[in-house]
Amino acid sequence: MTLTQPIQQLPVTNYQSRFLSACKHERVDVTPVWFMRQAGRYLPEYRAIREKYSLIEICHHPEIAAEVTLQPVRALGVDAAILFADILLPAIPLGVGLEFAKGEGPILQNPVRTMDDVKNLRPVNPESDLGYVLDAIRILRGELKDTPLIGFCGAPFTVASYLIEGGSSREFLKTKAMMYAEPQTWHALMEKLSAVLSDYLVAQIRAGAQAVQVFDSWVGALSPQDYEEFVLPYSQKILQDAKKENVPVIHFGTNTATLLPLMKRAGGDVLGLDWRIPLDDGWRLLGEDVAVQGNLDPTVLFAPLPEIKKRVDDILRRANGRPGHIFNLGHGVLQYTPVDALKAVVEMVHEFRSGQSADLPHKKVRCEN
Ligand code: CP3
Repeated sequence: MTLTQPIQQLPVTNYQSRFLSACKHERVDVTPVWFMRQAGRYLPEYRAIREKYSLIEICHHPEIAAEVTLQPVRALGVDAAILFADILLPAIPLGVGLEFAKGEGPILQNPVRTMDDVKNLRPVNPESDLGYVLDAIRILRGELKDTPLIGFCGAPFTVASYLIEGGSSREFLKTKAMMYAEPQTWHALMEKLSAVLSDYLVAQIRAGAQAVQVFDSWVGALSPQDYEEFVLPYSQKILQDAKKENVPVIHFGTNTATLLPLMKRAGGDVLGLDWRIPLDDGWRLLGEDVAVQGNLDPTVLFAPLPEIKKRVDDILRRANGRPGHIFNLGHGVLQYTPVDALKAVVEMVHEFRSGQSADLPHKKVRCEN
């Protein structure tokens, strides 16, 4: 028999099952890997688009946001795509105003400082106010085929910190001052924000996001006692509402070594670990009934390849083939990261076999399972 068409090679792995299975704590062929902030200025093709459009313009044009989401999937071969948007977009319909000034980070023009400010926040309808994000998700689900799409929102503490400070902060002085001096105002703000963010995240899932991540990037500024009293109930609402939609939920923060048990209580199928805690220590603190994501220091990507490999292998050995590890950085990709370093990490993670020694990088040992 002759074939007029070459037989299409079957994919060796099913990417969808690899990332989503690991989130569900199931066994996978190799550890899945993606990177927070995998779309961004380190990619020349992103910079080319940014020459023509501002960050907010990209977000407002679903086709462009979809294209920018796909760039790292093509360039790096990661196991998941993360929607291109920003945790601060809900500030626009809330009436706080949002602008990204060159080199200065976000500026929120009408910061929230008093009970009146909280009362003046406008109600947000995800479909009519942030529909452009949902449209990008719908486009991406048509384009991505086997690669799963992650939706996301900021957690109420991290978003509140930007709304109160009016931009980025080191000390979170105004944020904590509101918590301690005006607890009623704080709780009213967190109540409103958690409702808005929860509706937004659920809308993303209904539009097609196959997993979601809640970014509490700056929550490590808090003591466990303050986290429990001022933050946990509000993060919990969002994480629980997302969970009811039956997709994996990733709960991320940095500097969280002392907060991990409380963050687990707040919720999430997967907990993010940054590089300040060894992966196995963090996982032990959390318990093996949750999956973990992390935890390479993003600055390691500026080291020579053998040094990167040593550290990637160390993380994978600490995970020790246990189901439920998703490889990632401990925080987002930095601006000047070499693209080749990220590509190499994806290959290292995919080629790693348990039992492999760090000084024998190419020796492959069969996986027990
Ligand atoms: O690839 C992806 O991860 C998806 C896109 C994404 C962006 N922001 C686009 C963006 C995601 C997931 C975010 C989340 C986000 N935004 C967080 C949480 C994650 C983290 O890093 O902790 C935070 C804190 C923000 C708020 C924010 N957005 C800041 C503080 C800044 C300025 C800092 C900087 O790097 O310039 C942004 C701008 C921003 N959002 C960029 C990108 C790609 C910068 C690049 C640009 O201006 O084009």
